[in-house]
Amino acid sequence: MATQVILGIESSCDETSAALVGVEGEHLRVLSCSTASQDDLHEEYRGVVPEIASRAHLDRMIPVVRRACAEAGVKLGEIHGVAAGHRPGLIGSLLVGLSTAKSLAWSLGVPFVGVDHVAAHLVAALLDRSAVEWPAIGLVASGGHTSLFRMRSPLEFDLIGATIDDAAGEAFDKAASILELGYPGGARIDAIAESGDATVLDLPMTRLKGLDFSFSGVKTALSLAAREPQYLGRSADLAASFRKVVVGQIIRNLSLALDENPTPSCLIGGGVAANTLLRSEALRVCGERRVELRIAEHRWCTDNAAMIAGAGALRIVRGECDGWDLAAQPLSAVARGMRGPQGRKS
Ligand code: KG4
Ligand code: ZN
Repeated sequence: MATQVILGIESSCDETSAALVGVEGEHLRVLSCSTASQDDLHEEYRGVVPEIASRAHLDRMIPVVRRACAEAGVKLGEIHGVAAGHRPGLIGSLLVGLSTAKSLAWSLGVPFVGVDHVAAHLVAALLDRSAVEWPAIGLVASGGHTSLFRMRSPLEFDLIGATIDDAAGEAFDKAASILELGYPGGARIDAIAESGDATVLDLPMTRLKGLDFSFSGVKTALSLAAREPQYLGRSADLAASFRKVVVGQIIRNLSLALDENPTPSCLIGGGVAANTLLRSEALRVCGERRVELRIAEHRWCTDNAAMIAGAGALRIVRGECDGWDLAAQPLSAVARGMRGPQGRKS
């Protein structure tokens, strides 16, 4: 089977990214990935400002495509197809990547496909790995979504649980803002939680019926506790307590999903999949059930174009493509849960 080389482009929120992936059947090999972060531009607003994001994508898009090609040693003329994230996300931001991808595919005379960003977070767990045994339970925990899926293949799956309010990453970002750790805060909460005592503060864990999630209660409880004098200067302990409850709810629902739907594999992706406690707990619950865990490598957890190229490649090798009229859309077709008007609610 010959390898095809697919270019992927990601611009749904505040990362401008381009990647090249080699695809042979279901096997995906990352050849290069170049990402320009905009964190510095949005930090003072504690959230993504859509207009600033789309303008920054315009400046950075062509340079990241050039860098991805140079890193992989691939010329534009050697690319077999182009994929772009076309939903969900900020419309102005999505349009920059989508238009670039369509223009490149049209001028090179190769197929173009649009990719659902949430579905691509699951494909991130398949990059540079051996074949997975299907079916699988999939979990996406990111800044915009917290969703559980029953997966028949990387492209066919049903939603079985989702957040009814905040996404897990959004809750981590809010907690970081309460503890004055800066934006985006998930990784910073995770880092200081490592040296904290999670038993210092007893935060409430929401337990909904079924497999849905809710993180707004624990967020409010943290903001009230942080004002109490006895917790002054104890940010690490508060971060540890908060992380324990957020991760605890995710792991509880993941365990329920695995028990209700016995499957040989479990796929986890999204920015929050980088969380140290989530990774170790997921390994534990999958190990106890003899389920093979595929959790995205750290570098493929937060937004990146390698997962977009991978998800697009799986369609392109099937001979599929989308029309030039494919529109950018604010919501995912596979997952409930959306970003607030400022990119993420704070
Ligand atoms: O997947 P992603 O890059 O963007 C969306 O699709 O939303 O996820 C970004 C989210 C942010 O909310 C960020 O705070 C969170 O992932 N995040 C983490 C960690 N690293 C990133 N949350 C918890 N622990 C981490 N180590
Ligand atoms: Zn994402």
